[in-house]
Amino acid sequence: MSRVIGLYHSGPSGYVPLSIDGLVKRYPGSSRNAVDGLSLEVSVGEIFGLLGPNGAGKTTTISVAVTRTRPTAGTVRLAGTDVAAQAARARRRLGVVTQANTLDRSLSVWENLYFHCRYFGLSRREARRHSDELLERFGLAERRDERVDRLSGGLAQRAQLARALAHKPSVLFLDEPTASLDPQSRLALWDHVRGLRERDGVAVLLTTHSMEEADRLCDRVAIMDHGRVLACDTPGALKRNLTATTTVRLRLQAPPPPALLDQVRALRGVERVVNDGNRIEVVTAARDGLVPHLVSAVGAGLLDLSVSEPTLESVFISLTGRKLRD
Ligand SMILES: Nc1ncnc2c1ncn2[C@@H]1O[C@H](COP(=O)(O)OP(=O)(O)O)[C@@H](O)[C@H]1O
Ligand SMILES: [Mg+2]
Repeated sequence: MSRVIGLYHSGPSGYVPLSIDGLVKRYPGSSRNAVDGLSLEVSVGEIFGLLGPNGAGKTTTISVAVTRTRPTAGTVRLAGTDVAAQAARARRRLGVVTQANTLDRSLSVWENLYFHCRYFGLSRREARRHSDELLERFGLAERRDERVDRLSGGLAQRAQLARALAHKPSVLFLDEPTASLDPQSRLALWDHVRGLRERDGVAVLLTTHSMEEADRLCDRVAIMDHGRVLACDTPGALKRNLTATTTVRLRLQAPPPPALLDQVRALRGVERVVNDGNRIEVVTAARDGLVPHLVSAVGAGLLDLSVSEPTLESVFISLTGRKLRD
């Protein structure tokens, strides 16, 4: 993906589907900014994640971008259009899946799509054809005539996604799209979101408080807290470059002599060594090359070894001193 991102960032057209610059939002009566100087750009075909705990300002960022809330300062541009200055024009270019199910409960699945298409100016014929295609694509064809309040959570989210795409937006906003889904529906929705990258070439901004979702689904992730971006990169680079920690656990035949523990502490990159009986736990911020050194230091007394990779959770902890879900 980094190849594609690079291509579009440096592309000759300079086309940027979503660009947020210095965004500030302070709600009336509040003493602090819900969003506090946020800037980011999302490219064509990119899935960009805002990862942060409750109250970080993720939904507020989306609310401004989709013209539901006015910014206090800064700008959001959709394909060049300033959303605050030209809200109606911006709305044609964006699709949104909100946290709450906003499908029309009095209508069938198909009607939800059809009337959405009509609202956005498609002819009756186009709207019919397009709604049929979307139902097929999102695995909803068999539920076509059912009322949406009979759909499971997973199918309802897919119907919302289909509707968000129906008017062919350039940018799609997904606010915690899988937060209320069971694991299986969650995986299915991830596949559909990934499909957007290849099939539709839309830019996707999604919010999540799940580090796993950010890691597995997003091309780039901005870690957010108190309305600010603390770090922004690919999930791999965030885990590599920040002082996220790797833990190597060793089990030995016998408790290690103090000299061995000193030797392990002296290895390059080792931050902390904890010994409990015949177990040693080695915490490092730079694991490259460490395991071979550990193995040769411990020698024949080694029974078992395991490595826990850093996660986006450990990146968040290293940035804020807190867990994502405190
Ligand atoms: N309509 C509102 N009026 C006042 N404060 C709000 C409103 N919506 C959100 N907030 C506050 O703004 C901050 C960010 O909230 P939100 O954007 O919903 O965060 P997130 O989506 O990351 O959980 C929180 O402190 C929240 O209490
Ligand atoms: Mg939210």
